[in-house]
Amino acid sequence: MSLKLNHLSHSFGSHRTLRDIELAIDTGEQVALIGPSGCGKTTLLRILGTQLMPTQGTVRQLGTNSADLSAKDLKTLRTKIAFIPQHLGLVPNVSVLRNILNGGLGKTGLLSAIRQMLYVTKAETQRVYQLLERTGISEKLYDRTDSLSGGQQQRVAIARALYQNPEVILADEPTSAIDPARARSLIELLTQLSQEENITLAVSMHNLELAKAYFPRLIGLKEGTVKFDTPPAKLKAEQSQDLYLIKPQDHG
Ligand SMILES: Nc1ncnc2c1ncn2[C@@H]1O[C@H](COP(=O)(O)OP(=O)(O)OP(=O)(O)O)[C@@H](O)[C@H]1O
Ligand SMILES: [Mg+2]
Repeated sequence: MSLKLNHLSHSFGSHRTLRDIELAIDTGEQVALIGPSGCGKTTLLRILGTQLMPTQGTVRQLGTNSADLSAKDLKTLRTKIAFIPQHLGLVPNVSVLRNILNGGLGKTGLLSAIRQMLYVTKAETQRVYQLLERTGISEKLYDRTDSLSGGQQQRVAIARALYQNPEVILADEPTSAIDPARARSLIELLTQLSQEENITLAVSMHNLELAKAYFPRLIGLKEGTVKFDTPPAKLKAEQSQDLYLIKPQDHG
């Protein structure tokens, strides 16, 4: 089992974000998290990625309970779980190469991090180039990252995630800032990479049609609870409608 949540709840202060969630995601599984704004998708992904800890219940990643780990072991666990945040977290004014190398920093010691700031080996450049070939932007290796389009920067973020050889990739709304055709090809890329490398993949997204087309498992969240967990073929129209239904007292 890759990721497992038991009776997991989370609150920011008195605000409940996730309520009593039970979830198990197998190694290599591909899961789309869907649901309206504020339903808890980012919070759930951040808990899976160990950036946030649950308020109640437990989360297990790759067979360990992250709450029990020492700082050192937690750091090691994080190198196996690549988290692609919605705003990517790339450094804008440096090259694509440099951004991708940063993805490996959690794995190396301080000395090799300093060495890498001074010079990049041929093997490192080659590896980054190969990853950029896989994500379809190898010609951008030496370009400044902020000169790339939003969709190209998403591909840099994916290459950076792959550079750490992750067992899990968590991507928070990777398609929110790009046009529909590029969104489709980006989701195709993520699911294909996950399949080829047997990487567990969890992606939050708003586009239900895209989720249905590419993910074998859809998890619908509303107000912090799981409303459905189903293969797309079994998703009923009323389930997805109910997910996005706005009650009169809601304004967001
Ligand atoms: N740092 C924070 N402090 C307090 N409340 C927060 C914080 N971050 C998120 N929240 C609240 O937690 C709830 C869940 O937020 P979350 O960001 O997980 O939703 P989401 O499903 O990712 O929404 P979106 O689709 O808009 O990205 C929301 O009600 C939000 O206002
Ligand atoms: Mg979010």
